[in-house]
Amino acid sequence: MSNTQKFSLSMRLFHWAMAALIISMLAAGLLMVRSLEPWQLTILTVHKAFGVVAAVLVIARLVNRFFHQIPALPNDLSNLQKFVAQAAHWLLYLLLFAMPISGYLMQYFAARPADVFGWFRLPAALNVDIQTYALFRELHGWLALALVALVALHIAAALHHHFIRKDNVLKSML
Ligand code: HEM
Repeated sequence: MSNTQKFSLSMRLFHWAMAALIISMLAAGLLMVRSLEPWQLTILTVHKAFGVVAAVLVIARLVNRFFHQIPALPNDLSNLQKFVAQAAHWLLYLLLFAMPISGYLMQYFAARPADVFGWFRLPAALNVDIQTYALFRELHGWLALALVALVALHIAAALHHHFIRKDNVLKSML
């Protein structure tokens, strides 16, 4: 079992940078698909570029995680509570992967190359495959809703640890 009381500095930086990025991506995504304003296209271009950045960050974050010890969960949590906490964390990682991948595949089958801040372009199919595009578009939307629910649960759990149980869980990430 780990004796560490706090997440390493790099893990804390990854955590808060990605929290800001993912919450902004979810908010921008939900806003842009419900608007017909001219800024909608600008947000969409930025959304795709930052989505690719999110994919790179989540890979770097997982690699970084394997090189650092993480604090153990409080001893007084039941085995079931520990299992649920760990399962929720791995599900978060899974969704953080699945969001950019489904977004990219949606664009790939729409034959629209994703431009990343003018630095490079991700390849796209030569012809539109409307059915596969629609499948990934639908998947991207459902995964986003699952991610919103899981992020809300994650924040509620962190606040519960801090204000009700008054343990070290939230402080270990600050
Ligand atoms: C962490 C990464 C990402 C998050 C959290 C995210 C989130 C979202 C959300 C919440 C929506 C609105 C879904 C709906 O209400 O139907 C959306 C739409 C969209 N996303 Fe993403 N996204 C991510 C990555 C990407 C990437 C990498 C791409 C493409 C390269 C992309 C392309 C799109 C497109 C094109 C739409 C608009 C779909 C439409 O209505 O035609 N997304 N995204």
